[in-house]
Amino acid sequence: MDATTLLRALAAHPRLALGGTDSPFEPFPLLEELSRRPAWIKRDDTLGPAPGGNKTRKLEYLLAEARRRGARRVATFGALTSNHTRLTAVLAREVGLEAHLFFFDRRPAEFNSSLAIAAEAGARLHFLPAFRNARGRMRLETSNRLTHALCLARLGRHYFIPAGGHGWRGAMGYVRAAVEIHRQAVAARLGPACLGLAVGTGGTLAGLMAGLRLLDSPLQPVGIDIGGLWRGFRRSIATLAEEVCHHLGTPTSFALEEVPLIEKRYVGPGYGEPLPEAAGLEARASAAGLSLDPVYTAKALAGLVDLTRRGRVASDGPLIFLHTGGTATRS
Ligand SMILES: Cc1ncc(COP(=O)(O)O)c(C=O)c1O
Repeated sequence: MDATTLLRALAAHPRLALGGTDSPFEPFPLLEELSRRPAWIKRDDTLGPAPGGNKTRKLEYLLAEARRRGARRVATFGALTSNHTRLTAVLAREVGLEAHLFFFDRRPAEFNSSLAIAAEAGARLHFLPAFRNARGRMRLETSNRLTHALCLARLGRHYFIPAGGHGWRGAMGYVRAAVEIHRQAVAARLGPACLGLAVGTGGTLAGLMAGLRLLDSPLQPVGIDIGGLWRGFRRSIATLAEEVCHHLGTPTSFALEEVPLIEKRYVGPGYGEPLPEAAGLEARASAAGLSLDPVYTAKALAGLVDLTRRGRVASDGPLIFLHTGGTATRS
């Protein structure tokens, strides 16, 4: 379908304009130098309240739905350094909702900048260290279901936002982004290009997969798993992309092999732990005026460069790096 038709299908879902659209698309000399390919960067790090990023696009849909349902409170959860919880706090306040953030960790003696911004935005922070080790490595859907039940028991009525804004509704933000990127790539006459991005809960990747497939775009996403957090992750992402297409009125199936996810290789020691190979990259990007964070974007960019050098990206055309934002906070 064409972009106008897809935007019309998206318009059936409520959305609040919170600054999650039309981010710049620019040449990316650092990636060009490292990969020896024409390279571009999609600056989703410029979206939403600073420091913002990809969650802004998801929250536009999630908070709109919370408001549509008449909720007063929203609840979500994440790591102590989570960009998602911080942005939920700030954007929920903007639209008059009370945010409750759950962390399966001890309350830190001193708040990192993410927690401090969330607290300043008036969010209620709940620290539940007892659940930390019980969670282990499970399916993303299970983790969301258990946490939802916990939030219900603690808060009563609220609108629950899964980890990282996961779910078809949040992923609609990246269908919209797919239209934007597709149009920008066509305007730059890129043709088939590889679109690299960091993957945490997979909603960003699933939204792009769905959007680019529905547009019949020559852009080929490649998601770099930065956390190795979830069991059955490939299946979760395929199902999510299918749900997105279903809710846009065009049932589409995605086989597991069609999920462009690189698991394990660029996780390093684990979620939140820097990838040693990415250390030099952060400094080089910073010298060029671009901030990469060790948790997401530095790993993803290092992965994209390495995959390209090893001839493992699907096309031999240009590269696009989706900068999903984030901060440099460590717990
Ligand atoms: C900065 C940043 N980049 C990428 C991601 C990954 O997005 P997703 O959870 O949709 O895979 C996240 C959140 O998880 C993030 O905060």
